[in-house]
Amino acid sequence: MSQFGTMNASYEAAGEEAGVRKLVDEFYQQMETLPEGQHIRSMHKGNLTTIKDKLSLFLMGWLGGPRMYSDKYGSISIPQVHQHLVINEAERDTWLFCMNAALKHQDYTEEFKQYLMQQLAIPAERIRQMAQS
Ligand code: HEM
Repeated sequence: MSQFGTMNASYEAAGEEAGVRKLVDEFYQQMETLPEGQHIRSMHKGNLTTIKDKLSLFLMGWLGGPRMYSDKYGSISIPQVHQHLVINEAERDTWLFCMNAALKHQDYTEEFKQYLMQQLAIPAERIRQMAQS
């Protein structure tokens, strides 16, 4: 499994920019549709166009692809941009739940889906620790 962490292997496995954007679209689609997602959806202000772009560009760099987030939006600290939000275990787990639901719609190997969920749980937990409780 560790090969996903090297170079841009994860970015490739995710289907590069088109694949990441598709995943993020589905992620927010799940958040908007699933009853469980309503609470964290309501933490987002207004329409989701900008946040979809931001999350896609961020994840592309995070997966070892081009660093397009900083080119377009500047530098970012993931825990810091969530600091003003109230994020407890429930919000963290719902975010991951929506991501897991979105992954079911992607043409990725089971191994890569599992790897992604394990890796995303790390910043999600860090966000919870730094955000308001
Ligand atoms: C732990 C559960 C999480 C919740 C409840 C959550 C919720 C949110 C919300 C509500 C916003 C919009 C904030 C605003 O505009 O005021 C946001 C922004 C963002 N989130 Fe999360 N998030 C979570 C985890 C993550 C994770 C794990 C990542 C990345 C791996 C991530 C990446 C981002 C990015 C890139 C932005 C845009 C920041 C910006 O440029 O302004 N989030 N998140």
